Amino acid sequence: MTRGLAFAQGPAPPPWAYTVNLPPPPGAKPAPPDPAPQQLPGSTASLTVAQTRDAFNPPDWHPSGHPPMPEPVARGRRPEMRACGFCHLVNGQGRPENASLAGLPAAYIVQQMADFKNGDRKSAEPRMGPPNAMIQDAKAANDEEIRTAAAYFASFPFTKWIRVVEAVEVPRTRIAGSMHVPAGDGTEPLGARIIEMPEDLRRTELRDASSGFVAYVPTGSVARGESLVQTGGAGKTVACGSCHGPDLKGLGPVPPLAGRSPSYTVRQLFDLQQGVRKGPWSALMKGAVEKLTIDDMVAIAAYTASREP
Ligand code: HEC
Ligand code: HEC
Repeated sequence: MTRGLAFAQGPAPPPWAYTVNLPPPPGAKPAPPDPAPQQLPGSTASLTVAQTRDAFNPPDWHPSGHPPMPEPVARGRRPEMRACGFCHLVNGQGRPENASLAGLPAAYIVQQMADFKNGDRKSAEPRMGPPNAMIQDAKAANDEEIRTAAAYFASFPFTKWIRVVEAVEVPRTRIAGSMHVPAGDGTEPLGARIIEMPEDLRRTELRDASSGFVAYVPTGSVARGESLVQTGGAGKTVACGSCHGPDLKGLGPVPPLAGRSPSYTVRQLFDLQQGVRKGPWSALMKGAVEKLTIDDMVAIAAYTASREP
């Protein structure tokens, strides 16, 4: 298998972080969405489920929760560029299978769009749908669209909305919509994984940009991550604050890490280490990632996600 060969030198991408949707069972027909208008707490909007799934007009349940959106964020451009706000949510808070964009430096966003476009930023798990969709949208976006989208997301801060909980047993989950969702059938051992899931599945499924996530992380991982991040763990890695800022809130064009999705962070550390994320700025991360094990990445991400953005 080509995939096996590609990873002959390294570990496989951890499946709990690279969430791949299972193919539907043969002959299965998804139930049509509930046609009834839906309401959410704190919102006067009333939208059908189908309306909340429109990639060219994503739901804006709380219009006062963000500045006015430019066209690429609110509508995209038919037929080939979906609205950024569809996946990243209209306030840029993002979801575990994509990324939070709120509060990223504009120059950093522009550089990442170029990297996706040029083939310098891919996922180590080619079967994971959302990163491939991101690459398509970056290829479709023109310079002006990228500039206005970057200016929008850089203009307001990211808000903490991921609760990091150290745990031994976690609710059993299944992958739906490229995300872990509670399976509703009891618990299972967390082991050495991070499992991130919606706090309120209904609100997340309706793309409520004000309903966050809980991330279960292994017991002791936050403290172990703190030591790696702050001191470099005796040569395992390098202290991160010199580039990402002392509180991991970003520094100049270098992105903030504090409070952001730990599943996303693990994917990026792994992609950078495996060399599938290799943009012009990625070389600066070499010393930080080259010797990390997956367990180290878990600890680092548990710690960075637990910090105040
Ligand atoms: C179909 C869903 C989807 C749409 C639409 C989308 N993105 Fe993304 N985006 C993603 C995913 C998934 C990732 C994370 C990829 C990965 O894991 O490496 C991502 C990552 C990013 C990143 C990297 C963030 C970081 O911290 O490095 C930027 C920047 C970005 N997107 C900008 C945009 C902009 C601007 C638009 C609109 C023009 C857009 N995206 C539209 C899915 C999407
Ligand atoms: C020498 C400077 C430098 C150091 C030290 C450094 N980083 Fe980075 N980091 C960067 C730069 C620059 C980027 C953007 C890379 C790119 O564009 O591909 C980055 C990107 C990242 C990303 C991806 C962010 C995103 O939004 O996609 C993560 C996660 C990250 N670094 C974590 C860390 C951690 C954890 C450490 C410490 C163990 C660390 N970095 C140390 C410079 C640094």
